[in-house]
Amino acid sequence: MGEGFGFQISRKTLILSLIVVLSLSSPGSSSSSQEVRILSAERRIDLTSSIIRVFLTLKVENTGASDVSDILLAFPPKEAKHLAILKASIPEGKRKKKTYVPLEVNPTESPNTPNGAKLFSIALLKPLKSGEKASIEVLCALTRSLEPFPAEISQSESQYVYFRGSALLLSPYHVAEQITYIKTPNRKVESYTIVEPTDRAGTELKYGHYHDLLPYSYSPIIVHFENNNPFAVVEELVRVVEISHWGNLQVTEHYKLKHGGARHKGVFSRLEYQGRPSVSGSASFKNLLARLPPRVHSVYYRDEIGNVSTSHLRTDNQKSELEFEPRYPLFGGWKASFIIGYGLPLDDFLFESPSGQRYLNFSYGCPLLEAVVDELIIKVVLPEGSKNPSASVPFAVDQQLETTYSYLDVIGRTTVVIKKRNVVPEHNVPFQVYYDFNPISMLVEPLMLISAFFLFFVACIAHLHIDLSIPKSS
Ligand SMILES: *[C@@H]1O[C@H](CO)[C@@H](O)[C@H](O)[C@H]1NC(C)=O
Ligand SMILES: *[C@@H]1O[C@H](CO)[C@@H](O)[C@H](O)[C@H]1NC(C)=O
Repeated sequence: MGEGFGFQISRKTLILSLIVVLSLSSPGSSSSSQEVRILSAERRIDLTSSIIRVFLTLKVENTGASDVSDILLAFPPKEAKHLAILKASIPEGKRKKKTYVPLEVNPTESPNTPNGAKLFSIALLKPLKSGEKASIEVLCALTRSLEPFPAEISQSESQYVYFRGSALLLSPYHVAEQITYIKTPNRKVESYTIVEPTDRAGTELKYGHYHDLLPYSYSPIIVHFENNNPFAVVEELVRVVEISHWGNLQVTEHYKLKHGGARHKGVFSRLEYQGRPSVSGSASFKNLLARLPPRVHSVYYRDEIGNVSTSHLRTDNQKSELEFEPRYPLFGGWKASFIIGYGLPLDDFLFESPSGQRYLNFSYGCPLLEAVVDELIIKVVLPEGSKNPSASVPFAVDQQLETTYSYLDVIGRTTVVIKKRNVVPEHNVPFQVYYDFNPISMLVEPLMLISAFFLFFVACIAHLHIDLSIPKSS
């Protein structure tokens, strides 16, 4: 059927594109799309985890007369909503000495785009002159975009999910040549849409090459495949990081974890689960792995009931890995709340800036491997007496200040609260909290203790004195 079907599809695409172009020719659309052409686009879509990752390599050419300083990327509105990260970079240097220089990416106004496509603009380091070409690498991660189907499964069933996307790259530009590779976790692919030429080999589906596509061409596809990887969703993670100038950084992490995959139906049989571990509960997960900094100490792991003993800590000089298990395996829709706490040497994370401010340099994100965090709240509790706090995070976050009180605190401790929704492992990058600190403040608490002891002794002496004076007077 190859030829005829291929022709049909491309004719359909052509009609689709024509409709799209008609709706595009409204006055609002930017003229830049006519000046840029994508010579080649290669997309690699990784569906092996619960997070979808798309790696895109674009070769663009300025075909207009004037300079071009931004390249636009387009996303269907649904995808844009689930976009957790979007990064672009430009490769520099040749072969082995290749380095990637990050480029700034920002959402831009996208009035009158076909089907409400959302646009993001990549700012080039230097404008592309007429006739010049450039290569751009883009990475994006999408969360909550794999739909379990069936939506409910029993303990012994595998989890299958739908991926919905397009065989063609959605782009505001004319695309001369393109190809898309889709990687599935294993060979169990129930079905997939064919848009000739489509190939399947092992765990890879190949869509393309396709040639000469008009701006905003789109060709929907569905891939239905097995994915038993943990759909670990942390609905809320609160990380409290307390700085003590006496040498310790205390971290306490409160997790509300959920299995975000196909809902579990029927009753849970622990007998079956333990007796046939290879078949039973293949869509559930039990072992969790948290990657913590090296030199971690006093690690504990507990839930509402108390300490949980099933945890192992491995450390080397690069990192520490905490492997632990909730009290029960998590099936689709099930939840578990727990707390992980640990101490770290302050020297590894607290520094002084050239301007004399102190700053904490710590890792953002969630230590749990391959987890999606719906809402991440990081609270950095500064030592008492700290002033002028400010946080520097390399992506958009909500920031506010609050005050934390603990034992002996008189004026309370300034706490910097940093919130972000839709966090993925790519957000595990350093962030900083700067503040002013007068070392005299460190003496407040010891002085309070000393005065308390002093008062206590004075009271004792007074008491003894009274005690002694009684027999004397008798
Ligand atoms: C739980 O573990 C911590 C740290 O190991 C320990 O200090 C605490 O006493 C334990 N609590 C219980 C109830 O066992
Ligand atoms: C923060 O720490 C990372 C390594 O963990 C380092 O690469 C980075 O330069 C540090 N940032 C600052 C501002 O000190």
